[in-house]
Amino acid sequence: MELLTKMKEEGLAKIKDCCDIASLQQIKVDYLGKKGSIQELMKQMKELSQEERPLFGKQVNELKEVFENAIEDQKQYLEEKQMKERMEQEKIDITLPGLRPHLGTLHPLTRIQQEIEDLFIGLGYSIAEGPEIEFDSYNFERANIPQGHPARDMQDTFYIHGDLLLRTHTTAIQTRQLEKYAPQAPVMVICPGKVYRRDDDDATHSHQFTQIEGLVIGEQVAMSDLKGTLELMAKKMFGDKRTIRFRPSYFQFTEPSVEVDVSCHICNGKGCHVCKETGWIEVLGAGMVHPHVLEMAGYDPKKVSGFAFGVGVERVAMLKYGIDDIRHFYMNDIRFLKTFTRFE
Ligand code: DAH
Repeated sequence: MELLTKMKEEGLAKIKDCCDIASLQQIKVDYLGKKGSIQELMKQMKELSQEERPLFGKQVNELKEVFENAIEDQKQYLEEKQMKERMEQEKIDITLPGLRPHLGTLHPLTRIQQEIEDLFIGLGYSIAEGPEIEFDSYNFERANIPQGHPARDMQDTFYIHGDLLLRTHTTAIQTRQLEKYAPQAPVMVICPGKVYRRDDDDATHSHQFTQIEGLVIGEQVAMSDLKGTLELMAKKMFGDKRTIRFRPSYFQFTEPSVEVDVSCHICNGKGCHVCKETGWIEVLGAGMVHPHVLEMAGYDPKKVSGFAFGVGVERVAMLKYGIDDIRHFYMNDIRFLKTFTRFE
């Protein structure tokens, strides 16, 4: 009996002091296993007298139960403790500031193009596109630039073969639109797109750039309509205080033709290095659609008239954002592009 009491005290103490599940398992084997202490005690029963045996057996069984319960309790305690520790370790501090995902920004050329498109969509225009690989006829012939004209010079145009070339201006979209709608009126379209010229690339020239063409056809469309429209565009691009002026010019597909200047947005027209002290910046070409161009498309120039304009998107972006080299737009230098996040 003494032995039992001693074993009970010792065993319970061991179980209670045990602080990990693996050692607890070992204790279980030591006491309750096939070769464990309880089993040893059972063997000793043989040496006891007949009378003593039942009591001893009962006591050993009780002890076994005590150990089993104590081990189970300790196991539960250790498991809970382990779980608590893990929770503590893996705790997420939800009050920490998060990591901001890196967001891109619109390319400055896309931004200008969208601004212009938005303005004209608001005025009731639709957007039209055309192929970059174009027929000679749409790029030149129907724009009143016949064979042998200097504007067709091999120097300026990337020819593919025969009649095919890379369009040199979005006026090629204009002639396609005229052909598509003739003899219907009114027509109000904005035609954005890439154009190509055989230029050597430098700070102000690129063999590929972007233009936006505007075209309006209708009865009694007048030059004053062109002027009002372009003034609106100038204000949208360079601010509400801008005014415009027309200077006479020459394009084969418009008559009369004008070069359009916008009052300088840097000095407000006083004169600075950007406007070369003139107070004006040349921004685009425009004019009244040439009667011959209308005719070639299938319109009767006695019944309808129209205006057209062509603007270089890179030039507008360079002026607006103070960019001094056109090549920045095409280099994909993330440091350059990042500076436009401030316009978001
Ligand atoms: N196509 C001309 C160019 O590339 C730009 C232009 C001028 C377009 C006058 C027009 C216009 O529609 O009326 O230089």
